Amino acid sequence: MKFFIDTANLDQIKEAQDLGVLDGVTTNPSLMAKEGITGDANVIAHYKAICAIVDDNVSAEVISTTYDEIIKEGEALAKLDPKIVVKVPMIKDGVKAIKYLSSKGIRTNCTLIFSAGQALLAAKAGATYVSPFLGRLDDISTDGLQLIEDIRLIFDNYGYPTQILAASIRGPLHIVNCAKLGADVITGPLSAITALLKHPLTDSGLAQFLADHKKASEAK
Ligand code: E4P
Repeated sequence: MKFFIDTANLDQIKEAQDLGVLDGVTTNPSLMAKEGITGDANVIAHYKAICAIVDDNVSAEVISTTYDEIIKEGEALAKLDPKIVVKVPMIKDGVKAIKYLSSKGIRTNCTLIFSAGQALLAAKAGATYVSPFLGRLDDISTDGLQLIEDIRLIFDNYGYPTQILAASIRGPLHIVNCAKLGADVITGPLSAITALLKHPLTDSGLAQFLADHKKASEAK
């Protein structure tokens, strides 16, 4: 299972990379805005800075919504660095653009997936990744994990190579449940990834081991 971090914050990306378990980064226009990154030149420089930190898989989202413009923007983003994956929204022109970009060997991530039918269309168009937003479905009292399960079944039925990138992850249990269901990738905040480290019995067990070691050393 691949771990992506869902942020445009360079310090958090570095921290996750230093942990040694990071496989990529997802960004979106809202995350870029949150970091105060505005204007084409700054956005491009920021993508390059992210690519310099991680080994691969940097999702850069287009802001165009028409076929010709998505292709133009997507090709320009892909040229920035071989690590870039072009993130395209699940709209009609987006699906057509994914088909075109895939035929040119450009990796794509179809974003804003909220139904199994949308995931199926994106897979047929040749998307490298589909991003079902499970947290946002949970937020409106719909079972986000059920969507991951449904997409897994459909992709396995037909052997689609498109990878399921479980997005809008809110916490560690989302990650574990996605792993159980066979999602290929999760993307979440640093807090959800580092929360996997924690267990109170680990903390108390380690404290006891260290105390026993100290006592035994002092007794000598
Ligand atoms: C996916 O690539 C999106 O950036 C992201 O996961 C959206 O998550 P949110 O619902 O926390 O905004």
